[in-house]
Amino acid sequence: MVFELKSIYKDYMQGKDAVPVLKDISMQVEEGEYVAIMGPSGSGKSTLMNIIGCLDKQTKGDFIFDTSDIMLCNDRQLSEIRNQKIGFVFQNFNLLPRQSALENVELPLLYAGVGKRKRRQLAEEALRRVGLGDRMLFKPTQLSGGQKQRVAIARAIVNQPKLLLADEPTGALDTKSGEQVMELFSELNRDGVTIVMITHEPDIAKCAKRIMYIRDGQLHDGAFRASAEAPAAEQTETEAAE
Ligand SMILES: Nc1ncnc2c1ncn2[C@@H]1O[C@H](COP(=O)(O)OP(=O)(O)O)[C@@H](O)[C@H]1O
Ligand SMILES: [Mg+2]
Repeated sequence: MVFELKSIYKDYMQGKDAVPVLKDISMQVEEGEYVAIMGPSGSGKSTLMNIIGCLDKQTKGDFIFDTSDIMLCNDRQLSEIRNQKIGFVFQNFNLLPRQSALENVELPLLYAGVGKRKRRQLAEEALRRVGLGDRMLFKPTQLSGGQKQRVAIARAIVNQPKLLLADEPTGALDTKSGEQVMELFSELNRDGVTIVMITHEPDIAKCAKRIMYIRDGQLHDGAFRASAEAPAAEQTETEAAE
């Protein structure tokens, strides 16, 4: 098991009032899975991603990541889990603008205390794996959006994390670059990388092997969506027959 959420609630305080944002969310992700979490804007996707990514804690419920009960972890333990067990990919890449692709990819290894020579070797391998072997010394400003996201993916996998966690990874990309990023995700998943990807785009979510839907802070699995969409599908068929 990579992680398990058990009846998770998250409230935000608005003045003295607690505003519920996540309501009774339970899900489990196993090694090798590729899961998309879909939902409209404001449904709680980023809030859920922050909890899964150990960037924020739930208000109520249990969250077990790998072997750790996250509610019981202090800040130092949480940052260690983030650094060593989770690779993050964000919509806007979050690369250091003045550092080369190679230096950006080396960064998590630097934090993890990996020596210089080994850092270089692993970062080069990761960049080759995402198809950027010929762009290692380029700075982010010299790269296209799709290339920047591939640098970010190389940085996310360089530590061989338990989980690759992506929030709207194609949100800032044109269709073609977005497709390339999705091909790369599928390739990584075939090689055994566990992926959880958050998106509001159905075409992107389809690339995953399992889709979960979040609406108003509540999670539904694929069956819910299929039944909700069935009438529309029948309609289209009827129209086509006429
Ligand atoms: N730090 C915060 N304080 C108060 N409310 C928040 C905070 N972050 C998000 N929210 C609210 O929680 C809801 C879900 O937000 P979010 O998780 O960002 O949704 P999504 O990523 O699906 O668009 C929204 O109504 C948003 O206004
Ligand atoms: Mg969001």
